[in-house]
Amino acid sequence: MENSKYILVTGGAGYIGSHTVVELVNAGFEPVILDDFRNAKSFIIENIQTILGRKIELINAACQDENNLRTIFQKYKFQGVIHFAADKAVGESVKNPLKYYDNNLSGLVSILKMMEEFKTPSLVFSSSCSVYGNPSLPEGVHGVDETIKELDPESPYANTKLICEQIVQDWIASNPNSNATLLRYFNPIGAHKSGLIGELPQGIPNNLLPYITQTAVGIRKSLTVFGNDYSTADGTCIRDYIHVTDLAVAHVKAIDWLWNQNVGTVEIFNVGTGKGSSVLEVIDIFEKTTNQKLNWEFGPRREGDVQEIFANPAKIESNFGWKAQFDVEEAILDAWNWEIKRPKDA
Ligand code: UFG
Repeated sequence: MENSKYILVTGGAGYIGSHTVVELVNAGFEPVILDDFRNAKSFIIENIQTILGRKIELINAACQDENNLRTIFQKYKFQGVIHFAADKAVGESVKNPLKYYDNNLSGLVSILKMMEEFKTPSLVFSSSCSVYGNPSLPEGVHGVDETIKELDPESPYANTKLICEQIVQDWIASNPNSNATLLRYFNPIGAHKSGLIGELPQGIPNNLLPYITQTAVGIRKSLTVFGNDYSTADGTCIRDYIHVTDLAVAHVKAIDWLWNQNVGTVEIFNVGTGKGSSVLEVIDIFEKTTNQKLNWEFGPRREGDVQEIFANPAKIESNFGWKAQFDVEEAILDAWNWEIKRPKDA
C-alpha cells in the first residue's frame, strides 16, 4: 500500500493534540485536524499555523458525526488516526460519569467504524497512566511498566480510558487491515518553545502546573497542596512530569513504528520520563527557575489521588528509539513562558 502522509488528528486543537500537529508537520506528515472546540479555542489553530508558517487543514466537527467523517475519510486516504478527542477532567467524571462514558466511548467507536470502512492502516490511541490506579510495585522495582495486570482505574475518566483500550484490542483482533498503539501518558506539562500554544484550562485548573502558573500571575490567590501525609520523602504525591513536546514526538514515532508492523499488532506503551517529582519539588523548581515566589498552603488530600506513580519507559525507548529530551526544569520554564504570553481572556 502507498504510504499516505495524511494523518487525522482528532482533538488536534487541544493541549497535546496541537503540539502533536506541529511535530507531525516537522516530520513531514500532513495532519488534518478534527475538533469541535468544545474544550479548545480557535486562536490555537492560528498559532499552530504561525509556528509552522503554513496552513493546516481543519474540520470543525465532532467525532460522532459519522456522515461528516465519511466525507473526510473519502477525501484523504489517511495513513493513520491519532485519537485525542475526549473529555479529561477527573473530578467532573466522578460527578457526571455518563457524560464521560457517552462521549469518550462513542467518539472512539465512530472513529474505528470509519477506519474499518476505509481500511485505515494505523491508530494511535491517547490513553493514560491513570488506568494503573495505585500500582503496588514489587520490592526493588523502579517505575510502573506495561506488564502490570492489576489495573484499577480510580475514576470514571480513567475507566473510560481502560475500556477504550479494550475496545481497540477487540477491534484489532477482528480487523485484517489495521494495527494500533495505546499510549499511556504520565503527566504532560510545559508548552511549545514559542509560547504560542500550551495548556488552556477552562475555568479553575485541575492540574498542578496550570494552577501554579495562574497563581504566580495572580489569577488564583494560592495553590493548595493536596495532602502532606503520604508515605513519600516529603509527604506529598509523586508524579512523572513529561514535556508536552516530548509526548508529541512520541506520537510521530508511534505512527512510524506502526507503519513497519504487521496488521493485527496492538501494543501498549508508557510515555513518561522514568523520573518522579513530588509536589513540593515541583514548587521549589518553579520558584528557582522562574524567580517567582509562589503562594501556597497545605490542604487535605484530594479524593482519588494516587500516592506515587512514575513510568518505566524502557519499552517505548527500545521500540521507538524515543527518549524524553527535556527535564522537568525546562518543562516548567516553558509552562511559565506560555502563561505569561497566553491571551488571558481565552
Ligand atoms: N495537586 C495539588 N494541587 C493542585 C493540583 C494538583 O497539590 O491544585 C497535586 C495532586 O494532588 C497530584 C499532583 O499535584 O499529587 C498532580 O496532579 P494533577 O491533577 O496535575 O495530575 P494527576 O496526577 O491527578 O493526573 C490525572 C491523571 C491523568 C489525567 C489528569 C487529567 O492521572 O491521566 O489527571 O486531569 F490526564
